[in-house]
Amino acid sequence: MSQVPEYSLNLPPRQVIFIETNPLRRLDCPARPHRRGKQEAEIQLVENGKFGDYRLLERIAQGGLATIWLVTDPDGRSLALRVMHDTFGSGSNGPALFRHGCEIMAKLAPHRNVIAFHDSGKISGREYAVLQYVEGLNLREMNVREDPMLEEILSDMIIDLCAGLVHLHGQGIMHLDLKPENLIISRGGTLYLCDFDTAQIIPDTPMKFDRKSGTPLYMAPEVVNGWRFDQRADVYSFGVTIYEMLTQVKPFEGQTTKEKLTNQLNPKYLIRKPRNFNPNIPQLLEGLILKCLEYVPEKRYLTMGLMARDLHKVLGVH
Ligand SMILES: Nc1ncnc2c1ncn2[C@@H]1O[C@H](COP(=O)(O)OP(=O)(O)O)[C@@H](O)[C@H]1O
Ligand SMILES: [Mg+2]
Repeated sequence: MSQVPEYSLNLPPRQVIFIETNPLRRLDCPARPHRRGKQEAEIQLVENGKFGDYRLLERIAQGGLATIWLVTDPDGRSLALRVMHDTFGSGSNGPALFRHGCEIMAKLAPHRNVIAFHDSGKISGREYAVLQYVEGLNLREMNVREDPMLEEILSDMIIDLCAGLVHLHGQGIMHLDLKPENLIISRGGTLYLCDFDTAQIIPDTPMKFDRKSGTPLYMAPEVVNGWRFDQRADVYSFGVTIYEMLTQVKPFEGQTTKEKLTNQLNPKYLIRKPRNFNPNIPQLLEGLILKCLEYVPEKRYLTMGLMARDLHKVLGVH
């Protein structure tokens, strides 16, 4: 019997939304600069081929805070190991962010669309976290490679992202760094939320948080401006992320990031309708995206649960 891919099981009742594969509209994927200090530290790890009891198999990614490795544990299980860089100066908030991310993940109940946490600690002075390994690509990489699977499972991915966020918010946590790089798509087409370094406990009423990191073009205006905010900041980032998934452009016009940011932070700026870029987006879904992207949080969905209710109606999920 031939094996049926996991994602195709869900397709028939759902609306399939096609995106144009115009390479000019593809998202740019800036190469991450490798700092010398980081590289040296990595070389030491590779030479040993081991980190504690974990055997290092492949370097998956290197980000601002950490390097992600595919490893096996002594029982031969494949896992993802996140090792913090050891090049942070004494004034840096890097180590605190890394530990904070681990604490948040450790408390989360498991969910199909959230990367599972196994363990964290310190080996030879290096902070680390052991996570479920998902073989796949992050959403940014999928976009750049023009992966044909992306188009086929677009609506499933949006539903998965929404489900992951509903779960997170239900656990009293807001993610605050939603963007394509923090969404991993498995070979089977399941989406997983990762990177909880900037996550926070949802406050009873909007409040100010001491934030020193994030990606402005995905962040709600109230977060970029350092104002009070709550879980509606994630609703906004969800809106930016799915707008980009469906249209291959950012909601805000501009040649440069600075120009885009100026528009994003202008309360009078009229967001370009997603259907201008992709007429296959259902009208109701367009309305939902624009509601998530309202400048004023009070005009957005109050909770992801309310958003999910509308999304399921729009995409025909029963
Ligand atoms: N558990 C995992 N399984 C597979 N790939 C992962 C996993 N965690 C992270 N990655 C990959 O590594 C990249 C960076 O991970 P992330 O946790 O976001 O760290 P940072 O943004 O601090 O570099 C992700 O975009 C994803 O491609
Ligand atoms: Mg990340």
